[in-house]
Amino acid sequence: MKALVVYYSRTGNTREVAARIADELGCDIEEIHDTQKRTGIIGFIKSGYQAARGKDTVLEPYEKDPSSYDLVIAGTPVWAGKPSVPISTYLKENRSKIKKVAFFCTYGGSGAEGTFRTMKEILGMEPIETVAITEREIKEDTCDCKIEPFVRDVEEPFREPSEPR
Ligand SMILES: Cc1cc2nc3c(=O)[nH]c(=O)nc-3n(C[C@H](O)[C@H](O)[C@H](O)COP(=O)(O)O)c2cc1C
Repeated sequence: MKALVVYYSRTGNTREVAARIADELGCDIEEIHDTQKRTGIIGFIKSGYQAARGKDTVLEPYEKDPSSYDLVIAGTPVWAGKPSVPISTYLKENRSKIKKVAFFCTYGGSGAEGTFRTMKEILGMEPIETVAITEREIKEDTCDCKIEPFVRDVEEPFREPSEPR
């Protein structure tokens, strides 16, 4: 299976989880960068406002072509119960190029379902797996117990019948 982990991270949590997933899978990884400044309190308020309204942004150019992967694993922080603006823009730009998808998010503790639902609606495609990791699980370094089963499950549909788990 050829997989790509693609993610956006404003403050590093989603980057941390993305790196662990890509490491477990031994697959390619790409971080999406926004042209809009999102730091500080103004950046926070703007980001929540834009995410709640389903706004788009202009992304910096990215390298990897999702159409050359069997599976794209898209990761985002939860913003106002929705996917971050950069990742929803990325999904809109690439919906015709994605064959199979899985989602992950990082969050404080509410809004993961709405985030995954919106990502699914943008793509018009069910994810093969999803996982939501809290800030606390990242800080306390307990997120591997969610990441490991997620990675096993995303690999499963691509496994040859004779291959051991
Ligand atoms: C604009 C904004 C809105 C947020 N909204 C939510 C939310 O609705 N629910 C939640 O649990 N966490 C929310 N958070 C917290 C982030 O989802 C959480 O800190 C995430 O792990 C950040 O990921 P990052 O470090 O990769 O940017 C919000 C953060 C920001 C910046």
